[in-house]
Amino acid sequence: MSKLSIRIRSIGEGEELPYELLLLADPERSAIDAYAGRSICTVLEEDGQVIGAYVLLATRPKTAEIMNIAVREDCQGRGLGRKLIEHAVAHCKEQGYRALEIGTGNSSLNQLGLYQKCGFRVIGVETDYFVKHYAEPIVENGIPCRDMIRLRMELSLM
Ligand SMILES: CC(C)(COP(=O)(O)OP(=O)(O)OC[C@H]1O[C@@H](n2cnc3c(N)ncnc32)[C@H](O)[C@@H]1OP(=O)(O)O)[C@@H](O)C(=O)NCCC(=O)NCCS
Repeated sequence: MSKLSIRIRSIGEGEELPYELLLLADPERSAIDAYAGRSICTVLEEDGQVIGAYVLLATRPKTAEIMNIAVREDCQGRGLGRKLIEHAVAHCKEQGYRALEIGTGNSSLNQLGLYQKCGFRVIGVETDYFVKHYAEPIVENGIPCRDMIRLRMELSLM
């Protein structure tokens, strides 16, 4: 069997955003559009097919945030999400950022595991964030998604 080739690249100007993937992480297209226009979207391709993506936004001086990260459902659990985070960390260090942040729902147990394994620390909770900002209730792992858990990685300490 031939080895699959993986490539990670930023999408070009005028190139369509991989909405199908981004909607896995963020169920509201209007929310995605609100940050995507000001962000860099990076995709992971396997044999030319886009199967993963993350969206990075410069939020404050020297601080960037991963606003969205997703891997196609049938490709999850193979280490690609971790690869995308490592790519974002390397990119941010190269660009001179001092910190990288990410937020996730209180019910996103796998994501909370992944982010902490990658070196993010919990820095706060935005209570009722998802209740206030999303029209439809979200439930994951049998848990109502209400609060945004905010995590941060200090890049200057690494
Ligand atoms: C979150 C997501 C990007 C992770 O990508 P992935 O390629 O599945 O993750 P990886 O294979 O790199 O997994 C890395 C770690 O995540 C955790 N993890 C991932 N999938 C898991 C699963 N099904 N069950 C338990 N843990 C899991 C594990 O802790 C794993 O650690 P390990 O390598 O030590 O076993 C992906 O699952 C996804 O797209 N989910 C839907 C969209 C989403 O929720 N995005 C984030 C919004 S905050």
